[in-house]
Amino acid sequence: MYKKLMTCLASVREQTSFEPEAALILGSGLGDYADEIQIEQTVDYTSIEGFPVSTVKGHKGRFVFGYVSGKPVVIMQGRVHYYEGYKMSDVVLPTRLMGMMGARKILLTNAAGGADPSYKPGDFMMITDHITTGIPSPLIGPNIDELGTRFPDMSEVYSRRLHDIIRKCATECGIQLKEGVYVQFTGPNYETPAEVRLAQAWGGNAVGMSTACEAMAARHMGLEVCGISCITNMAAGISKVKLDHKEVQETADRVAKSFKELVTKIVTNM
Ligand code: HPA
Repeated sequence: MYKKLMTCLASVREQTSFEPEAALILGSGLGDYADEIQIEQTVDYTSIEGFPVSTVKGHKGRFVFGYVSGKPVVIMQGRVHYYEGYKMSDVVLPTRLMGMMGARKILLTNAAGGADPSYKPGDFMMITDHITTGIPSPLIGPNIDELGTRFPDMSEVYSRRLHDIIRKCATECGIQLKEGVYVQFTGPNYETPAEVRLAQAWGGNAVGMSTACEAMAARHMGLEVCGISCITNMAAGISKVKLDHKEVQETADRVAKSFKELVTKIVTNM
């Protein structure tokens, strides 16, 4: 895996020597955020040897290198999901690669289902912690000693320093930020109502199909991590409506403008 990462890194380095300070992964509805920053260079996933390429319609596949308020960033425009059939180690390869490019902090974003009955579609939730019991750990397999230790501590996956910054950013944007625990399942199916009750019993506030695995891989290699979920729908069984990818997309699009404002503020200050 480390050799594969080094091959990917060499592929990227053939195209750019850009050194990002922060990394950003864009979830549903935020995809075009990367088009709006001061772009220096883009690198298509397909041009990177050995890189897992996303199969989901509407997910662009490229790294965007550029500046947000003068801060050098690398953005993943389109992520890789476990439900596409990749090994978990491939799902987190891009995250690791961004760390190897030089990023020391990462902001993860996603669309998620609200498992907390006090949430409503369109809310933003700062991820305070996560539960990955429903997925294999991305750290399974021989440990990559070059990146981190075999048994990494996960007592503060999401940085408390960044929590304080994010709270301030949300207030400045006039956003009533929720805070909660993100539970990752594999997808691609939405959860059953019983699974959502399980997530609630575990202490989860939102459910989704990404992000926690990336957070774990990033933390393993010592990156400072933060994450924001856009609650696009109430999770199964909480409201009467059936779950539909269209609703997810519609809500994500509806709040995209304020999500982008928040992301810009966070990246600027993180
Ligand atoms: N469940 C899982 N993933 C999701 C959801 C959901 O309800 N909404 C958006 N992504």
